[in-house]
Amino acid sequence: MTSSRFRPSGTPDPDATPAQILGLDHPNVARMYDYFLGGAHNFQLDRDTADAILAVAPEVALAARANRRFLHRAVRYALDRGIRQFLDLGSGIPTSGNVHEIAGQHDPSARVVYVDADPIAVTHATTLLTDVPTAAAIEADLRDTEAVLGHAETQRLIDVTQPVAILAVSVLHFVPGDVATPIAAYRAAMSPGSLLVISHASPAPATEQTNQVQHLYQRSRTPLQLRTPDEIRDLFTGLDLVPAQPDPGERRRCGEPDDNGLVPVTAWRPDGDPPGSAIERSPFLDRFLAGVGRKPVRAGASR
Ligand SMILES: C[S@@+](CC[C@H](N)C(=O)[O-])C[C@H]1O[C@@H](n2cnc3c(N)ncnc32)[C@H](O)[C@@H]1O
Repeated sequence: MTSSRFRPSGTPDPDATPAQILGLDHPNVARMYDYFLGGAHNFQLDRDTADAILAVAPEVALAARANRRFLHRAVRYALDRGIRQFLDLGSGIPTSGNVHEIAGQHDPSARVVYVDADPIAVTHATTLLTDVPTAAAIEADLRDTEAVLGHAETQRLIDVTQPVAILAVSVLHFVPGDVATPIAAYRAAMSPGSLLVISHASPAPATEQTNQVQHLYQRSRTPLQLRTPDEIRDLFTGLDLVPAQPDPGERRRCGEPDDNGLVPVTAWRPDGDPPGSAIERSPFLDRFLAGVGRKPVRAGASR
């Protein structure tokens, strides 16, 4: 679990203070991310740490926007391929362009389950979804795959016999330890034709700036856990990585000689960001790798 308000069993700690239960005793990455995106659902202790990070690396706000844009592109990609159900792991505090809004514009019957370990993020999402029967928000640690997949709302909204898009955008680098095992469990639960969408911060090349950012995140209960490109690629084991550029000519123009599907977050099927804009090209953003893996459909299967 990501905070001391839970015991290892996943049950709430009866000795936790109200501040601990609400996650108000530490700066919190969900609320800091909301602040980076210009949202209002954050507190002074979140803003203090976020401002300290922006003072060292103003690009962190760009990175938040770039990850959100990748999320939107990946959701549209899934919708274009007929996927109508989404499991959004580490969904964060609702902000403009939530998954159910994008999916609902495309097909009002599309279904979304938001999962977050942060109670404030889940409370905001639940309030937003009061009149949205096709979406729900649940509080769970994404590593507890049984709790996520077995939750009544997941069972109500997600039919695992049909393709689903599992989204883990800008979250796994806040999850310490072994993420390979839970992600493998999600891959196993996905039916053929499903998509796994990941963006993840990688360490190389570490600089004084990135070291300071990593140090500042240690104030939160979810310090940064960077993973190498190989570790990130392994999260897609058994899936076919979708080419990040559909057209090889475009790939060469973007300076991507070998499209292995795992690319800087701004380079995954970009649309709308003018070439050369700050969000389009920044060495800092190149540390955020993004990919979409598709579970193969067996030969002869109808999907
Ligand atoms: C940076 S935000 C990303 C939000 C969203 N995915 C997006 O791309 O805009 C990371 C979110 O992951 C959540 N989170 C961190 N660790 C988690 C865990 N182990 N299980 C579920 N959610 C987690 C945080 O509470 C936070 O809301």
